[in-house]
Amino acid sequence: MVDEMERGESLKRSLGPLALTSLGVGAIIGTGIFVLVGKAAADQAGPAIMLSFVVAGLACVFAALCYAEFASMAPVAGSAYNYAYATLGELMAWIIGWDLVLEYAVASSTVAHGWSKYLQKLLQQLNANVFSEEGFLYRFSDAPFDFNSASEQVEKTVASGEKIVVSAGSFFSTGFYFDLPAILITALVTMILVRGIKESAFANGVMVAIKVSVVLFVIIAGFRYVDPANWTNDFAPYGYGGITLFGYQISDWSEKGVMAGAAGVIFAYLGFDAVSTQAEEAKNPKRDLPIGIIGSLVICTILYVLVSAVLTGMVPYAEIDKNAPVASAFEKVGFAFAQFVVTLGAIAGITSVLLVMMMGQPRIFLAMARDGLLPYSFFGAIHPKFRTPHKSTMLTGFVVAAAASLLPLNILADLTSIGTLFAFALVCTSVLVLRITDPHRVRPFQCPFSPWFPLMGIILCFLLMLSLPGENWLRLLFWLLLGLAIYFVYGYRHSKLRAPNGDSTTS
Ligand code: ALA
Repeated sequence: MVDEMERGESLKRSLGPLALTSLGVGAIIGTGIFVLVGKAAADQAGPAIMLSFVVAGLACVFAALCYAEFASMAPVAGSAYNYAYATLGELMAWIIGWDLVLEYAVASSTVAHGWSKYLQKLLQQLNANVFSEEGFLYRFSDAPFDFNSASEQVEKTVASGEKIVVSAGSFFSTGFYFDLPAILITALVTMILVRGIKESAFANGVMVAIKVSVVLFVIIAGFRYVDPANWTNDFAPYGYGGITLFGYQISDWSEKGVMAGAAGVIFAYLGFDAVSTQAEEAKNPKRDLPIGIIGSLVICTILYVLVSAVLTGMVPYAEIDKNAPVASAFEKVGFAFAQFVVTLGAIAGITSVLLVMMMGQPRIFLAMARDGLLPYSFFGAIHPKFRTPHKSTMLTGFVVAAAASLLPLNILADLTSIGTLFAFALVCTSVLVLRITDPHRVRPFQCPFSPWFPLMGIILCFLLMLSLPGENWLRLLFWLLLGLAIYFVYGYRHSKLRAPNGDSTTS
């Protein structure tokens, strides 16, 4: 793969260890810590959400060590897809590559959705919310559908103000047209990405600096308002469990608890592996990729545990706001200025997540196109001046904008999480397989304590998949079947491995 990359059209190498770590942090801190932590703390784990963050972070560390081993051995674009291609063969690689669309494109849609909510919150604070109920763009502020994932019927208020009863596990029409801010931010990010990696890395660096400052501000300013009784009164109100069997309760284990909380916040960690998709743009990939992947993950784990400690210490867990938990915590203690700062920080933070996620997807497509599994003329096309995969960047932008503006947030978030955990488990498996099938290969970075760490990664990721609402398994299955159908219709027939002259780049 490395030889082939050096022979063919390659991307510009401009990223050092700091830029890669910054890209990782840029991909990680976003919707998860600014939005999803609220629901997980209030409904699934209570103050023990701190432990949930540790469990989720641990699963990611095991996976990250495996990613780092692969990234140092095969520093080419494409992330987990390439690792699977090298070790488990073309079909498994296709399955992972297709699954990674959930982690990158679908995650980007989730993130664009969250961005829209924060933009609307900012406009509200500035008394200029054209998307509010009275505003002239009200109907363009949200997705036209939503889903009731509860196990009983619920009453929902739709755009017209009318209340409707929605039965368990069903879709309903919200009365909105589409989410306009989500489309606008996706279009802007797509334009930046088509222009080039260097400019994108710079824009990302600025936003990462802003959001890390805001997160530190939350920890330091919020610490003064912590009442330890909020932690000690009822530390783990829902217990320490939360694992179900494909959605069915296991004996009398609760569906809630620390593990369910960990599954709820795993989204907050996604993105560290985006660093590995930038391998072709790294100056010294063998050394810098492991630094970027593990460094960004460790920084974020520490920040998350501290933010969740401050949040659950400032506000009794049952009173935590599920839409804008961190900003509202400051509102509750009467620190209005902090609320504004947090909203701005969230917007910057979420934008940089979108930038890195949407940068990763076309590079995975590029790797798949090089192997003949996708049309090379489209997905392999690199812009002559900007040296970016411009065509698939634009396609990614289009798909992300469509999904973000039309589909509900909860479906997108959970689908992203289950797809990503599946990819992590497969990467851990690939490390073990390659250790057995090719033990003498030079590994500039080695996952320590093998096979135990990769095995722990597989087990933890699987447990977290089981801790997500059951319907996600069906959606994952549907997605994988759709992918297989595409593989057998196109990829199998155009595959480079099967081509007589071994060249698919003209197909
Ligand atoms: N970890 C990223 C976020 O929380 C996906 O937005």
